[in-house]
Amino acid sequence: MEYRQLGRLGLKVSTICLGTMQFGWTADEETSHSILDRSIELGCNFIDTADIYSSWVSGNIGGESEKIIGNWLAKRIVKREDIIIATKVRGQLGEGPNKDGLSRHHILHAVQESLARLQTDYIDLYQVHWPDMETPLEETLDTLDYLIRSGQVRYIGCSNYPAWLLTKALWISDVKGLARYDSLQPHYNYIYRSEFERELQDLCLDQRIGVIPYSPLAGGFLTGKYKRDGELPNSARVEGIKKRYFNEDGFAALEKIEEISRSYEATISQMAIGWILANPAVNSAIIGANSINQLNETVAGADLQITADDKKILDALTAWK
Ligand SMILES: NC(=O)c1ccc[n+]([C@@H]2O[C@H](COP(=O)([O-])OP(=O)(O)OC[C@H]3O[C@@H](n4cnc5c(N)ncnc54)[C@H](OP(=O)(O)O)[C@@H]3O)[C@@H](O)[C@H]2O)c1
Repeated sequence: MEYRQLGRLGLKVSTICLGTMQFGWTADEETSHSILDRSIELGCNFIDTADIYSSWVSGNIGGESEKIIGNWLAKRIVKREDIIIATKVRGQLGEGPNKDGLSRHHILHAVQESLARLQTDYIDLYQVHWPDMETPLEETLDTLDYLIRSGQVRYIGCSNYPAWLLTKALWISDVKGLARYDSLQPHYNYIYRSEFERELQDLCLDQRIGVIPYSPLAGGFLTGKYKRDGELPNSARVEGIKKRYFNEDGFAALEKIEEISRSYEATISQMAIGWILANPAVNSAIIGANSINQLNETVAGADLQITADDKKILDALTAWK
């Protein structure tokens, strides 16, 4: 496993980050713990979660994923300092007008809850899950800066930010002497490129912001199990995937990446990981897995060295410009 610096930080993270949105949704606690154990064996030192995972599941209230990770940490299979835990704040947790957003009020409450569920006294990377246009950025950044100074959080990052807002946040941190967002978690994969590549990519390279894309396998579409006319796989993601990727461009890209993957004796998912990690702006890809087999297959993609020529060919096949 390769480890890369997260943007300008001294912190080094594995090029595969284990996403845990599946925990408490499509993976029960026992399966989740076995996936966590295996990720450590494979060299991953980076785990991504969020306070709202997996609140959308009937019977859940949110915080299930953090709780599962907390119970696993308590088994002490790994030393706390050997694991980089990233979590997020922003979504609605509980009822009431202040149980959501990025206000000082909500963040200070939410961080305590996350720390308790994770059974830890610090969060390595605390990310805002998506923008809150009702709260001034100064209020959010000042609160996050306080969390770093008080030792509850070590670094801060953002997710789903457009370039103009991330630029504004960096400017506020700079002029006010506050901690800055040192990572961005964008939605980015081989067939969903323009959102990140249009402006964010250059901004992150220029400002040395760490980039940790989510859904590098397009939620499972970039694995080969979705076919033009084939039977649909048994997955909770089917409807979302059909809506986003079941179109001519999606299937054409899938067939092309499959063609090139043959010369590498690699699977489509491994090519998708190899492709994203070949981007110099990307530090770590946040993958999801429901089983050890899925994890093993995807993580092997981190070792794939795609030649510069093949990268150019692949880039051209899904170019959006
Ligand atoms: N910041 C945000 O707004 C945001 C949003 C989404 C996700 N995330 C984070 O990013 C992580 C990853 O997102 P994602 O789950 O969309 O990532 P992904 O890696 O693109 O998709 C993972 C899904 O693909 C399927 N899969 C994985 N490996 C496979 C294999 N080898 N063969 C066949 N199917 C395979 C599994 O779903 P099935 O078994 O159901 O097919 C798995 O849950 C999440 O866990 C979360 O931590 C963040």
